[in-house]
Amino acid sequence: MPSVLICYYSRTGNTEAMAHKIADGVREAGVDVDVKKVSEVKQADLVKYDGIVYGSPTYFGGCAGELKTFIDKSDDYYEQLEGKVGGAFTSSDSIGGGNETTIMQIIQAHLICGMVVTGDMEGEPYGPVSIGKPDTEVEKNCVEYGKRIANLVRKLHG
Ligand SMILES: Cc1cc2nc3c(=O)[nH]c(=O)nc-3n(C[C@H](O)[C@H](O)[C@H](O)COP(=O)(O)O)c2cc1C
Repeated sequence: MPSVLICYYSRTGNTEAMAHKIADGVREAGVDVDVKKVSEVKQADLVKYDGIVYGSPTYFGGCAGELKTFIDKSDDYYEQLEGKVGGAFTSSDSIGGGNETTIMQIIQAHLICGMVVTGDMEGEPYGPVSIGKPDTEVEKNCVEYGKRIANLVRKLHG
């Protein structure tokens, strides 16, 4: 069965809550999912998944150093990530506080690895965003995003 990794950094729990909702969506769509803090993942683990979704709080308009360092240290494996599905999500304090630039920073890394990224015409086009703690609408967006990721994984790797 295809599988997805949701790998996140979260200091105060908002991004972590999103990660678990996205995982619910992946599971609902019938795809295996592991949800892990970035500190629990080794770069070598990445190659065994068909989809990789990174989440981070927005820090100064970009992703947290903990996640960026993890990605920077994955260079030994990046060629093996080609064709996998990639995704990104973030939580920030303000609407214009750099959440989209954070998501784009992560997506840029996915693209550098030759990964496949999907937009969304009905939900949030770049990936789920929460302003502070996820409310019920954000939770719904996260579940739908998880389903979207899972469906693409199944199409490409099922
Ligand atoms: C060092 C630092 C930098 C931050 N920079 C931004 C920022 O640029 N824009 C923003 O909207 N929020 C910013 N925030 C707020 C966090 O993105 C926000 O509180 C987020 O929900 C925290 O996620 P977490 O609960 O997963 O740790 C910053 C917080 C910290 C600690």
